[in-house]
Amino acid sequence: MKNVFVMDHPLIQHKLTLIRDKETGSKEFREAIKEIAMLMGYEATRNLPLQEIEIETPICKTKTKVLAGRKLGIVPILRAGLGMVDGMLNLIPAAKVGHIGLYRDPETLEPVEYYCKLPADVHERDLIVLDPMLATGGSAKAAIQFIKDRGATSIKFMCLIASPEGIKVISEAHPDVEIYVAAVDEKLNDHAYIVPGLGDAGDRLFGTK
Ligand code: PRP
Ligand code: URA
Repeated sequence: MKNVFVMDHPLIQHKLTLIRDKETGSKEFREAIKEIAMLMGYEATRNLPLQEIEIETPICKTKTKVLAGRKLGIVPILRAGLGMVDGMLNLIPAAKVGHIGLYRDPETLEPVEYYCKLPADVHERDLIVLDPMLATGGSAKAAIQFIKDRGATSIKFMCLIASPEGIKVISEAHPDVEIYVAAVDEKLNDHAYIVPGLGDAGDRLFGTK
């Protein structure tokens, strides 16, 4: 599907197996999510613009490339998106971090917003929205719309596990947004959990239930 990039690098698949396993505890779960985010971030930033500068090596002057200084931002969807922040910041430490607080109402499955704090210059930044899970797509669709409503024009969405339904929802609602995903699973169950998935990402990250 256009605009959907499945990052199935062997290292990512290996770490995904770790976080899918119900025996994996919060510490290992957190570490693996951070590492997967970093590996995915490497690919998602592949097209960052470069500019040529001149430097002097110990041997001679030379022209070489550095990042063109385009402003970046990452926006985790609370809570579970927080688990991906450190991995991304390892790669792009100068990125600003916005936060969107959303939870999925267990009855209606509709996203409920409870917090939103974005960089003031959000309209000038390339933003990457982070959430490990894309299930019905309701949360990500709403989060991306909140960010657009506040002026953002350049947005990517990065998740670890998606359902086919969630991908369709985002692709149709936000055709301008590229989706980076580590695995597209089979389906949603009757409670709108991804099958086989990994269970509740927020609870597994933070040890709640
Ligand atoms: C999870 C997940 C996504 C959302 C995905 O968050 O982190 O934000 O569900 O489901 P959807 O695609 O059907 O909207 P949850 O609402 O459980 O909140 P939490 O991160 O605070 O646990
Ligand atoms: N949220 C999760 O954390 N996991 C799912 O499978 C679906 C929504």
